[in-house]
Amino acid sequence: MVVNGKKDQERYAVVTGANKGIGLETVRQLANAGVTVMLTARNEKKGMEATSLLRQSGLSNVVFHKLDVQDPESVESLAQFIQTQFGRLDIFVNNAGAPGATVDMDALMALNIDPKSWLSGKAANLVQGFIKITYESAKECFDTNYYGCKRVAEALLPLLQLSRSGARIVNVSSLRGELRRIPSEQIRKELGEIDTETEAKIGRILEKFLHDIKQDKLGGNGWPEMVPAYSISKATLNTYTRVLAKKYPNMCINCIHPGYVKTDLNWHTGMMTVEEGAKGSVMLALPPEGGPTGCYFDITKIAEF
Ligand SMILES: NC(=O)c1ccc[n+]([C@@H]2O[C@H](COP(=O)([O-])OP(=O)(O)OC[C@H]3O[C@@H](n4cnc5c(N)ncnc54)[C@H](OP(=O)(O)O)[C@@H]3O)[C@@H](O)[C@H]2O)c1
Repeated sequence: MVVNGKKDQERYAVVTGANKGIGLETVRQLANAGVTVMLTARNEKKGMEATSLLRQSGLSNVVFHKLDVQDPESVESLAQFIQTQFGRLDIFVNNAGAPGATVDMDALMALNIDPKSWLSGKAANLVQGFIKITYESAKECFDTNYYGCKRVAEALLPLLQLSRSGARIVNVSSLRGELRRIPSEQIRKELGEIDTETEAKIGRILEKFLHDIKQDKLGGNGWPEMVPAYSISKATLNTYTRVLAKKYPNMCINCIHPGYVKTDLNWHTGMMTVEEGAKGSVMLALPPEGGPTGCYFDITKIAEF
């Protein structure tokens, strides 16, 4: 059977925020595995350049489509494009991410923080003066990492439901979103329970954070100390992953910490290459039939939420 000129057994994937970093490498690895991949980016020029490079390297199964996950019209336009061109979707890798902070790069580099202190969060006090979180940067972070993911997932779910090979959603999260890293027991409890109220609770938690930052009351209210907006955005993304997995038991829907990868997002403090960082996303995008769902992975291993 042929759908819009494409073979029945072909698989179609969308990767968000794929003009660079882990996303670009995820596109490369999925395309190498024979998947037709939509490389998406909010910046048309950067996205088209990245696509051209992959196509010139022999990956003619990579196509570009513009996507700003914060913009509902842009999201709708991508869904329409997939509907018209392919008629369905098999894999959605929600990779786009915003750090939720601005940094004084020179000062951060001069601190020469060892990766262990960075990862454990022990460096929180050291970086306090150099990593600035404002109401605007926190809002952008939530609109990208949580609401952006949700927006794109909701638009693509009808197409994923038409998958013939079993739909997969991979939410690229972070170890910063692990519940044990959130000081507030109440927030840990609310994000740890999956029920019909969970999405409303997430909304209230994000609103409270924005309220607290506006009032300059982040300290002492139980929010994470290390990159707090980013940490909460990823914790809520993990919880949303579990909500989706419960709602769509016929799909494999998981979230992942890709590892500590050297990219723009962490101001190049990471240790791993993008090739290593994309491995987990690709593994979860191509699991065997009956693979895990509703789980959190630390690189390639199942871990505690
Ligand atoms: N690197 C790490 O160590 C690490 C660790 C844990 C989790 N992660 C996660 O891994 C994912 C990929 O990050 P990365 O490390 O590869 O960083 P990166 O190279 O900075 O890539 C981030 C990507 O997200 C895109 N993006 C930001 N806002 C967007 C929006 N509104 N719409 C569409 N795209 C948007 C960026 O586009 P522009 O180029 O236009 O800004 C960029 O393509 C993120 O979700 C990040 O949180 C990374």
